[in-house]
Amino acid sequence: MSETDLPQFPNARDAVRSLRASQIREVANAGFGVPDVLPFWFGESDRVTPPFIRDAASAALSAGATFYTHNLGIAPLRETLARYVSTLHGPTSVEHVAVTSAGVNALMLAAQLVVGAGDRVVAVTPLWPNLVEIPKILGAHVETVSLVYGANGWQLDLERLLAALTPDTKLLMLNSPNNPTGWVMSRDEQRAVLEHCRRLGIWIVADEVYERLYYAGEPGQSAPSFLDLAGRDERVICVNSFSKAWLMTGWRLGWIVAPASLMDDLGKLVEYNTSCAPAFVQQAGIAAIEQGGQFTRELVGELRVSRDHLVGALSALPGVDVKAPPGAMYVFFSLPGASRSLDLCKALVREAGLGLAPGSAFGPEGEGFVRWCYACDTARLDAGVARLKDYLARY
Ligand SMILES: Cc1ncc(COP(=O)(O)O)c(C=O)c1O
Repeated sequence: MSETDLPQFPNARDAVRSLRASQIREVANAGFGVPDVLPFWFGESDRVTPPFIRDAASAALSAGATFYTHNLGIAPLRETLARYVSTLHGPTSVEHVAVTSAGVNALMLAAQLVVGAGDRVVAVTPLWPNLVEIPKILGAHVETVSLVYGANGWQLDLERLLAALTPDTKLLMLNSPNNPTGWVMSRDEQRAVLEHCRRLGIWIVADEVYERLYYAGEPGQSAPSFLDLAGRDERVICVNSFSKAWLMTGWRLGWIVAPASLMDDLGKLVEYNTSCAPAFVQQAGIAAIEQGGQFTRELVGELRVSRDHLVGALSALPGVDVKAPPGAMYVFFSLPGASRSLDLCKALVREAGLGLAPGSAFGPEGEGFVRWCYACDTARLDAGVARLKDYLARY
């Protein structure tokens, strides 16, 4: 058979083929078949969703909530969300709120609303890969501005970010509190960025899914939000999720706060992506918000204890540089061997049964670090640290 007769295997288009594959998944695959791995690599708690939320979903299912809903979500959930956002960030009406199928779908919808082929997008990194890859699916070009690591942990170089936000920039993608670093953007930084973007007509997509997981303020206080500063009809789209503050990762429920003038078009995009979030899941979302205040406050208290415990235990290990981050649920730290973090994490899972995420999974700026999700009890963290200590002693 000549070369031209060989079957041509069909491929996805170039923009899709060149997307980065998940390095966390690569590490998990390296551990396939290893018994007794302690997994700290994914961004979720090891606890199930609290009973009052599961019960609300069961009741909704029993009552027959099995049909399509309005594209932008059921009215009672949108009203509940509008009240919740108003309490946290000032007056917000239902026409500024849309329900989505979790945070990642909200990010995709937000990008689809404002970004097209050839557009310039800026993202602050290290960063959960989805924010960088989603605009690329749409054919956009993504420039990154790296946070800087120093004595006070990860910080923004504001001047560098403002310089990168050129008049031809369409969109700024920001995530604060940040996955993986735990960095939290200050109110002053948000103000400066907002004013700059206002002047140049640049859209901001603010991923605030970790806003409640904030340890630097008063108990119960959420992290600084663009919603505290921006009018609801400005070029700001805020993305949020039920996954982190109510332990609902598997439910796939989130929301967007955006200008009312976008909502008709957002409804069309929801129609063509998912049509709607499941009705019984939306009912559970109402219970989460209406009955979950105390639960979230306690969760944040527990996470703070876990964070401090892990930071204390890691600091005692030779060669480990770790700082307590002000937000989210990860410790992003450096240790011997992490200059090739993917190789290190594969070795850790194979040889020590310890599942961590390589810093390089969050962009080249994350190389030299590994990410540890501390959303579990301290005994489990201790067991993981013991494995790391043992591994470091061997190498
Ligand atoms: C920064 C960030 N944004 C958004 C999400 C999306 O979460 P979900 O799709 O579960 O709401 C995650 C999940 O880990 C995240 O880390």
